[in-house]
Amino acid sequence: MKKNFKVLAIESSCDETSCAVVVDGRFCLSNIVTSQIDIHTRFGGVVPEVASRNHVTAIDNVVKLALKEAKCTLDEIDAIAVTYGAGLIGSLMVGVCYAKGLAYATKKPLIAVNHIYGHIAGNYLSNENLEPPFMCLLVSGGHTAIIKVEDYNHHEVIGETMDDAVGECFDKVARVLGLGYPGGPKVSKLAESGEANIKFTKPNDLGYNFSFSGMKTAVINYVHKIEQNGEAIPKADICASFEKWAVDELVSKTIKACLEQGFKKVVVAGGVSANRRLREELTKKANENGIECFIPKFEYCTDNAGMIGSAGYYAYRDGIGVADMTLSPNPSLDLQDYLLKKK
Ligand code: KG4
Ligand code: ZN
Repeated sequence: MKKNFKVLAIESSCDETSCAVVVDGRFCLSNIVTSQIDIHTRFGGVVPEVASRNHVTAIDNVVKLALKEAKCTLDEIDAIAVTYGAGLIGSLMVGVCYAKGLAYATKKPLIAVNHIYGHIAGNYLSNENLEPPFMCLLVSGGHTAIIKVEDYNHHEVIGETMDDAVGECFDKVARVLGLGYPGGPKVSKLAESGEANIKFTKPNDLGYNFSFSGMKTAVINYVHKIEQNGEAIPKADICASFEKWAVDELVSKTIKACLEQGFKKVVVAGGVSANRRLREELTKKANENGIECFIPKFEYCTDNAGMIGSAGYYAYRDGIGVADMTLSPNPSLDLQDYLLKKK
């Protein structure tokens, strides 16, 4: 692989339109992210049809801006990477079609990237010295899993959620408390001024797997009971208690997995990795157990194209992920699915 290999990456799986120029899988010359949060806030969540239309409007400018900020022309780009799943079908379609058009017109290789591999790779952009193998706690709006990352393109899921993803649970708790969308950051902010004094019961022992739907129901019932008694809802305490409960679940199982499976390094990835309590607890518990902990920079936690450029680089380097004009989005691409198989 030549040095200074530049990947232009596109991410449009949900409500962020993003384009980045990434060098050698490790460094972003640019990483433009335009969020549609303001548009979807009115509806209390992402409206898929509205999201796709806004991607169409935004994408061309976002790509041009990413090239401009990277001080780079299309000629200097070596390959084009794009998220092809999982995500919202209409949203993915916009990024995939744009990337295909660009690859065809410029005769550059097209690399198809699994969004989840992107989240893991956000850590390569954040921690210069991080190399596999490591254990990864993946926590996003759609997934919650413990993944053994044996090598850049060799992942094994050893635990996942049996129902809701943890990000989804943060969002639902926020909705019950009337905090708005997206819920995660709002719950987390309010938790800072609350006390974790409400005891929510733990789910049965599920090994490395998780269950979050019971917790969601517990919070809803708790709030309804207080409302029926005509009392004020202690929102900050509920947020703090829920957050502590969720973080304890995530951290204890991840550390257990590291110790039992003999992993000396742990990373966290996905939107919920922006959660301060999770970052602090994982770092603390890892240190106590002699495990080195890596966390992504905030800009690489939630959806962004930089992470897709990094995952795309390593896929291309290892001879996988190369797509052609038949590439189509896969909204339900599995966690375990490799980037396109070796040809
Ligand atoms: O990875 P991501 O950007 O999108 C998916 O691939 O799903 O994750 C979005 C999720 C949302 O559920 C959001 O509420 C959550 O990440 N999130 C947080 C925080 N920031 C984002 N959850 C807890 N604390 C945060 N600070
Ligand atoms: Zn994501």
